[in-house]
Amino acid sequence: MSEFGILQCRQLTKRFQQGDLDVDVLKGVDLTINVGERVAIMGASGSGKSTLLHLLGGLEKSTQGEVILAGENLNTISASKLSKLRNSSLGFIYQFHHLLGEFTILENVAMPVLISGCSIKKARKEAIELLNRVGLGHRLEHKPGELSGGERQRAAVARALINRPKCVLADEPTGNLDSKTAEQIYQLMLELNQELQVSFLVVTHDHELAERMDRVLHMEDGLIV
Ligand SMILES: Nc1ncnc2c1ncn2[C@@H]1O[C@H](COP(=O)(O)OP(=O)(O)O)[C@@H](O)[C@H]1O
Ligand SMILES: [Mg+2]
Repeated sequence: MSEFGILQCRQLTKRFQQGDLDVDVLKGVDLTINVGERVAIMGASGSGKSTLLHLLGGLEKSTQGEVILAGENLNTISASKLSKLRNSSLGFIYQFHHLLGEFTILENVAMPVLISGCSIKKARKEAIELLNRVGLGHRLEHKPGELSGGERQRAAVARALINRPKCVLADEPTGNLDSKTAEQIYQLMLELNQELQVSFLVVTHDHELAERMDRVLHMEDGLIV
């Protein structure tokens, strides 16, 4: 598995049909993320960054090319195996937190553990530990709407990491935050990266933050340049 890295794509293409028009959004992307590596992706709006993350995360199918996650080819595994693999191996963080508004922060963070088949007791215990770790131990019973933007994003980081994924895919995770709060979220991700050996692939517009990653990739018009 290590020879492929934790997450790899080869000659990945994605074509969307818009009416009669074919739009080639990814034009043959090659990429390998190594175990524990932190990689930033920068690039103009519309260059294909989010599409690439969706394909790497198995949320959408490529037109051509393959994605290998933890040694498994996402094109050829079954749908049920794919959703299990996604839940156990990947974490997702978005610009807007995507927490479920009607559930508490504790329930939101515990949910991936429950989905993986663990008991409620174990899910609660692990979620509380991690929420303490991200400084939200005093907000367990709050709903997302009762927290600040930075607190919600810390909860989203906790939810992404609760199943000890091998790789976290983050799409402009701090794009909605002021620079001081963004800095705290990055610090948190870096700490967890080192503690847990999780790989991070992060789309960002912030050069300063990107340069603190191990590698910075630039996307232009559907290709890594
Ligand atoms: N579901 C879709 N159907 C058609 N076109 C899409 C779809 N998703 C994205 N696109 C197009 O693909 C291009 C790249 O989008 P995206 O990956 O979101 O770029 P970025 O995240 O770099 O801003 C854009 O031109 C966008 O309009
Ligand atoms: Mg995007």
